[in-house]
Amino acid sequence: MSSQESEIEVDLSSDPEYASSYHTDTTSLSSSINEYVFENGRRYHSYFGVEKNLMPTDEKEQDRLDLHHEILIRLFDGRLHKAPLDHPQRILDVGTGTGIWAIDMADQYPMAEVVGMDLSPIQPKWVPPNCKFEVDDAEKDWAYKKDSFDFIHIRNLAQGISNWPKVLDDAYHCLQPGGYIELSDTGVTFHCDDGTMLPDNTAKCWGEAMTEAMAKAGRPPPSDARHLRDRLTAAGLVDVHSYAIKQPFGPWAKDKRLKEAGIMIWIMAEEGFTSYGLAAFTRMLGMDSEEAAKLCRDGYQATRERKSHLYTVHYVAYGRKPEE
Ligand SMILES: C[S@@+](CC[C@H](N)C(=O)[O-])C[C@H]1O[C@@H](n2cnc3c(N)ncnc32)[C@H](O)[C@@H]1O
Repeated sequence: MSSQESEIEVDLSSDPEYASSYHTDTTSLSSSINEYVFENGRRYHSYFGVEKNLMPTDEKEQDRLDLHHEILIRLFDGRLHKAPLDHPQRILDVGTGTGIWAIDMADQYPMAEVVGMDLSPIQPKWVPPNCKFEVDDAEKDWAYKKDSFDFIHIRNLAQGISNWPKVLDDAYHCLQPGGYIELSDTGVTFHCDDGTMLPDNTAKCWGEAMTEAMAKAGRPPPSDARHLRDRLTAAGLVDVHSYAIKQPFGPWAKDKRLKEAGIMIWIMAEEGFTSYGLAAFTRMLGMDSEEAAKLCRDGYQATRERKSHLYTVHYVAYGRKPEE
């Protein structure tokens, strides 16, 4: 258990502010030329099939991903990973998104080659010389050689993967003995330790709808640290460690680091509720776009309620491939 799993102490002096506006465009159109689909005002990559990606890949989402990366660095005490790496040589980032983690890793380990792989080519062109990006589907057979990486990182991919045993089998095959796989994902359930989240809290309702939608999609989000730990153990990894890292929504935590992260999470959440929710609610739960947008808007507004001390959890687990 990590120390971050303990109860977050509330800063009683925090005062209400940070009101914001919210806008959702529900116009839909699609294009087969540029291999994107526009749905409920968001752009989804469709090269590997529309159903593949339940989250958008537009500029708003790219900004949100970069902000979440900065938040996670703070919540990881300034680190990019939990696994105890020793001079890694070849690193793979599966579902790299904007590639921000891969780029930071390439800077941190200049002697390593870092490969970022994603369904969508949304990564920048100007990157460190030891970093490169490839477009692929992690659920297809991996083209990488056996034992060719010593660290494989998979972060926030719950919405994109239906067959985790296959993905982790392929990752295990491509991992050197002694190398590490680190798996981390963000839960969609809202929690509260001090009774300030009422049963009809709309962020809680949003989380429940997300859980239902992702279960229907066959891509359930993690609900505890054991979830990811069990996946790694089942794939054959040993010395598996797991963590549950709380993500407070808003500046209600007394701890300075969590307070700062909480403000950043608020900013991220403004797009985050719709990034996660719009396609999931309309495609999986059959809501119309207005209803889905309202659930996202109401969920987000509940996190701005200064009296409610809400948080979600980012789950992390890493494990080592045994030496042969
Ligand atoms: C929520 S983002 C996370 C991005 C990045 N890992 C991060 O933490 O910043 C999910 C990313 O995974 C990609 N993705 C989803 N399913 C995938 C798959 N089957 N194979 C490869 N990439 C996938 C999406 O295109 C998107 O860029």
